[in-house]
Amino acid sequence: MPPPTNILIGKDMPEATAFAAEQVVRALATPNRTRSVALAGGSTPRALYTSLASPPWKTRVDWQGIEWFWGDERAVPPNHPDSNYRMARETLLHPLAVDPTHVHRMAAEAVDLPAAAHDYETTIRHLVPANAQGMPAFDLILLGVGADGHTASLFPGSAGLTERARLVVAHEIPSLRSRRMTLTFPLLRAARNILFFVTGAAKADILAQIHAGDANPLRLPAAGLQTTAGRTIWVLDADAARLVQGVIRP
Ligand code: 6PG
Repeated sequence: MPPPTNILIGKDMPEATAFAAEQVVRALATPNRTRSVALAGGSTPRALYTSLASPPWKTRVDWQGIEWFWGDERAVPPNHPDSNYRMARETLLHPLAVDPTHVHRMAAEAVDLPAAAHDYETTIRHLVPANAQGMPAFDLILLGVGADGHTASLFPGSAGLTERARLVVAHEIPSLRSRRMTLTFPLLRAARNILFFVTGAAKADILAQIHAGDANPLRLPAAGLQTTAGRTIWVLDADAARLVQGVIRP
């Protein structure tokens, strides 16, 4: 896969964060209709969420007309420091005073995690309008990339990588020896907009592998993940993009 032309590179983290915030606004600034977002977890989005909840981006989107979901969640309670829900609530949803009835947390702490994944899929199918193929099509799915090439909680060697029917699965992550809930590739690919936001020198090597053009998605799950009918944008900072070939650098 040649490096997608839609890679934006900020000279530093603040500029990359501003580029990413502009892409979020572009994807969500459609007024007068309910939109849907699946948020990324981990640490990278923290700066982006804080920016979106601050001027100038805070006033450029009707944040109250959005159904909020997550791309994945760790098997921890919602107030656990590792919770992706807690991070987004603290940095974005609470500062924007989002109505909690439109916030749909993954109950990844459930003992019966497969049942919780099934329930989450039912909620998505109920609230996210389907495309012509009957697949719920999020307006925006935010994603990060781990140093092993995982995205959402689709890790190398995890069972969910090959799931083609279910939209949400709970599975074991061999490298972490823990369970995760995650959206699956069929749902991710149906999004109108996918925004990968990746920063920092620690991601330079894996991004070079992902964008080398011959990456195997089973070994590098983020490789080759593109929307089937929408826009896939990668926003990187210069440190993360340092080894990626064929891109225009700041
Ligand atoms: C998670 C995320 C995951 C994340 C990557 C990168 O639950 O960890 O959803 O896919 O995006 O692991 O994480 P960092 O942003 O912390 O590097």
